[in-house]
Amino acid sequence: MPLSAGKAARQAGRDAQDRGSAFVRLCPPASLVVYACSLLLSGAVLLTSAHALPAFHETQWYAGLSFVFLYLTLVAGPLYTTRRLAGMEARRALGLSTCYFALLHSYFGFYRFVGGLDGLRYWSRYFAWSLFAGLLALVLLCALAIASLPWLVRRMGRYWKPTQRLLYVAAILTVIHGVTVTIHLTHLRAILIVTYGFLVLLVALELRRLDRYVTRPPRALPANLVTLVGLPTLSVLLFWAFFFLDHHAH
Ligand code: HEM
Repeated sequence: MPLSAGKAARQAGRDAQDRGSAFVRLCPPASLVVYACSLLLSGAVLLTSAHALPAFHETQWYAGLSFVFLYLTLVAGPLYTTRRLAGMEARRALGLSTCYFALLHSYFGFYRFVGGLDGLRYWSRYFAWSLFAGLLALVLLCALAIASLPWLVRRMGRYWKPTQRLLYVAAILTVIHGVTVTIHLTHLRAILIVTYGFLVLLVALELRRLDRYVTRPPRALPANLVTLVGLPTLSVLLFWAFFFLDHHAH
């Protein structure tokens, strides 16, 4: 018997929905994609290396990758609003990958670039402080990675979420380390300009979020105050750190 126009439309809708959910079932979860990409990228860095000393290639590529993954972890916060659970899983994968690349970068940076504790004697005190900021960032990233183990998440309960905010401290320490360490990258100027643009965007997104939080009662601060004060201040501060600090001081 032929279907009426309404029934046919409903049937077509159901068919499309079925095809859609079959597609979702066939797609690997976003977190799996993130882990696979991280493994492939870390392998590609090693495969394309000349394995020379000092290990510029590995140190710089792993620094760049840890920075990009840290950025994505942070930017996922203000950006995802729907599909919360899937978003959280993917964000956890991005965070764990950040830690993975940071560990690789720190190993190559300290032992195969600086020359370990012996080599450190030949570098300036300023440089050592910069590495110390990197070390603190690394410790925080590792602690947060451990704190994302499911049974620890359960045990920490309501303390888990505030603890995860330490990621912002790790990010600030990473920026301090990145702008004060000696950088031997070719195309440094172009890299700094692009990174600066992306960082200001992230700062703007986070300040908007903070604004929404502080305008709610009981705080009820004036609307947009945090963004209006914070964005110009932090943009100028970052501009100075990126374009006026000497990135070649040893
Ligand atoms: C013990 C910990 C660390 C050590 C020993 C270390 C070492 C280094 C060294 C030697 C450089 C200079 C590379 C060059 O001359 O080009 C560098 C740069 C950099 N590091 Fe680290 N680092 C550490 C932790 C971290 C962490 C945790 C991050 C990020 C999550 C990070 C991100 C960067 C960035 C963005 C740069 C600038 C880009 C570059 O030069 O490749 N570092 N680090």
